[in-house]
Parts: sequence; C-alpha cells; structure tokens
Amino acid sequence: MNFFAPTLYRATIFNPIAPNEGEYFPDGGLAVERDGSISFCGRYQEAHVRYADAVTVDLRPHIITPGLVDTHAHLPQYDAIGLGSGEELLTWLERRIFPVEELFMSEEYAYAAAVRFFRKALSCGTTSMAVYSAPFYSATRLAFKAAAETGIKVWMGKTMMDTNAPAALLKPAMANIRLSESLMKEWHEKDSGRLNYIVTPRFAGSCSPTLLRNAADFASQNGLLVQTHLSENKKELAFIASLFPNEIDYTGVYESYGLLGRNTIAAHCIYLSPRELRAILDTSCGVAHCPTSNRYLRSGIMPLNKYLQSGMRVGLGSDVAGGYSLSVMNEAREAMEQSKTYSMYTSESDDIIHAGEALYLATLGGADILHSVGTTGNFIAGKDADFVVHDGAEIFNATTTVEQPENVLARLFYTQPTVLATYIRGKKVYELDTLNGDVRPLP
Ligand code: GUN
Ligand code: ZN
Repeated sequence: MNFFAPTLYRATIFNPIAPNEGEYFPDGGLAVERDGSISFCGRYQEAHVRYADAVTVDLRPHIITPGLVDTHAHLPQYDAIGLGSGEELLTWLERRIFPVEELFMSEEYAYAAAVRFFRKALSCGTTSMAVYSAPFYSATRLAFKAAAETGIKVWMGKTMMDTNAPAALLKPAMANIRLSESLMKEWHEKDSGRLNYIVTPRFAGSCSPTLLRNAADFASQNGLLVQTHLSENKKELAFIASLFPNEIDYTGVYESYGLLGRNTIAAHCIYLSPRELRAILDTSCGVAHCPTSNRYLRSGIMPLNKYLQSGMRVGLGSDVAGGYSLSVMNEAREAMEQSKTYSMYTSESDDIIHAGEALYLATLGGADILHSVGTTGNFIAGKDADFVVHDGAEIFNATTTVEQPENVLARLFYTQPTVLATYIRGKKVYELDTLNGDVRPLP
C-alpha cells in the first residue's frame, strides 16, 4: 500500500465549468490527494489507470457534485424559521427577527445555536457560506469557534447596526468598526483561508451614513468582502428613500458611501431600475439570489434570467430565516421554478433557468461571489476537494439511467435526494447517520 497515493472516489459525477457548460461522467473518478486537493476528475477507468496504487472508494450508484455554496444566510435566525409567515420584511424584522437576535446576548445559547446551524448546513451539502452573525462581539467569536470546529468554510461578519432597531442590537458606528476589526484580527484567513471575516453593514435602513462610510473604508483598507441587502421589498424601498432623500436610488446610497464593487455581495436586488442594474454591472458587484425568501416574505420575483444574460455575477442564498431551509439544492430548484413564474407574468421572454445553470449557480457561481473560484466550486485539479455525495438510489429508476444526464440532473434538483456525506478539503465533515435510517452506509 502506498500511503502517498490519492483516494479515488468512484461515482456518477457532475462537474460545472461555466453557466452553460459542464462535464458529466456516468462512471466517474475523483482523485483526492492526501493534502485534500483534487488531482483528477474524469472517467473512472482513466483514473484507475493513472493511479494504479490508489484506494478506490466505490460510491456507486451515488452522485457527486461540487460542494454547495450559500452566499447569504443569517445564523441567529435559524431558530425563527417559519415564524410570521405572510408578514412582509419590515414588520417581520421587527416582530420576529430582532427578538430572536437578542437571544444571542447569551453566550451559551449563541454557541449551541451556531453549532446546530453549521451542522445543519453541512448536512445539506453546503461547504462554503457567507454568514451574518448576531450583532454581538461574543456571539460572533463563538460562531467562528463553531465554524472552526465543524470544518465548514465561512465568510462571516458581525451584523452592524447603529439605527432603526431595538437598542440592545445597536452599537455606535465606530464601536461597530472596532469590534469588527478585533474579530477580523482573530479570525480572518485562519486555517489557510477556511475562516474569513466579511464586513456586514445590515442594510441602509439600519446603518447611519457614518457607519456606511466607515464600513466601506474598513473593508477596502483590509481587502475584505462586504455583504448587505439591496432592493428587496417595495416598502423597504420607500423607507430607504425617506432616510436618504438626496440619493438617486437605493443602489445610489451604497455607491455614495463606497460600498458598491466587486468585493460586495448584495442580497435580493429584485427591483433594480435600469440605472441601478448598470451600476451593479459596471462595478461587477456580486448578487445573492434568495428565491425562497423572496416568496416567503412576499418580496417579489427577481428577474434572474435577464440578470444572467446581462453578465451579472450571481450566487444562491438561503437567506434563513427569510428562507425556510438551509438547502442550496432547494434554492436552486426554487430559482428554476420562479423563472417559470416570472416568464408567465411578464412578456419579456420565455427563457427559463435550466438545471445546468442551477447547478452552476449553486456551486461555481457562488464561489465566484466569494472570490474563491481558485479553491472551490468545481473539480479542477489543484482545487480543494469540496464535494457532496447525493443518494443515487433515489434518482435512478425505470425512467432515468446514468446514460441520461439531463434526467439525472433534473431529478437531482426536483427529488432532492438525501445528502449522504459532505467533504471539505478531502475530509468527511458530515455523514448521514445510517443507524436509524434505511440508507446503505457509505464504505
Ligand atoms: N434586510 C435587512 N435585514 C434583513 C434580514 O435579516 N433578512 C432579510 N431577508 N432582509 C433584511
Ligand atoms: Zn438576508
């Protein structure tokens, strides 16, 4: 036995390459080196010849995809999933969300909730995620500790607010920046870039001009990504217009304070005017598409197809608890379904999102938003072996065989098979508890 030989995972493999391009290996082999990197993805027979002394883990009939990327989620809202259904954004924030975020003043609760949140995300196949932590320093430290322990890749920041929320959740602008800086120093780029700090001004509705300006300066001085919300709900738009009467529009607020750019992830972006769309495209700003949340909170339908055709950088976001599931597979399916609804209610086009594009958005598109296509998002040699094993027994049947990639991919999204295991950097960070289930254990 050669201890330095890679491990070969044998399964049906999807490897997205671009929005409309991908590879499919019905009997595929993924070679993972001891250091957790990928050295090969292709036909199993070819892999077997190349790596004659490798140990094969035979995962057939299961399916491997790259690890899923959630570009927008709120950790402290996990326990509020399902509350206030039917309410719209501003009411829901006030009645349901701000009270649960206050619970994170308790360190004990904050740590336990963070562990549950990340474990659940891993069980859904998420390997990378952008996370809004509670507006508290200690809760955010403990959330990083939980992320460090569970093995997930995160871009996480303390939610910053200095106005228009309960006093317990507010901090003066510069205190927000100082606490963020301290968290950045402790956690940014730790474990070779698995843990990252992301500057998190919640949205223009809860940040003063001073906070917005200083958040932008802090991010650019330290080369950090930024995450915020933009153009989600009609009443929110009116609220922002009332707070910033001199700005041309909602996007203009972030432009004025230096927050729009390639390092920014703007969530939702449903009601962009042509001018705003141009500004997003001109600055290469990333957009987190959160379709489940957009419906749950009755926010609206984002014109995804139009945005993709214009060249926008888009990833998917669960937006828990606006979204009711941490599954990026669920968001991908929802993105496809909402593109149908949009096409039914507009005369713009009949174009809808297909499964190949959905897979791209769920993986490589998200990795692009997080500036991590060099290390994750698909199976190019040299990247980290971040991957998910989906239960193929739930996919293949009389209508669908491995020779029919379109059916396999469509059924992957529409049946949402059980995630059997999740790997990050070649290490198994989640495995289904088969003791209580009827699923065949993985070798
Ligand atoms: N806008 C400002 N805060 C939030 C939030 O927590 N969730 C959503 N969906 N939108 C927001
Ligand atoms: Zn959100």
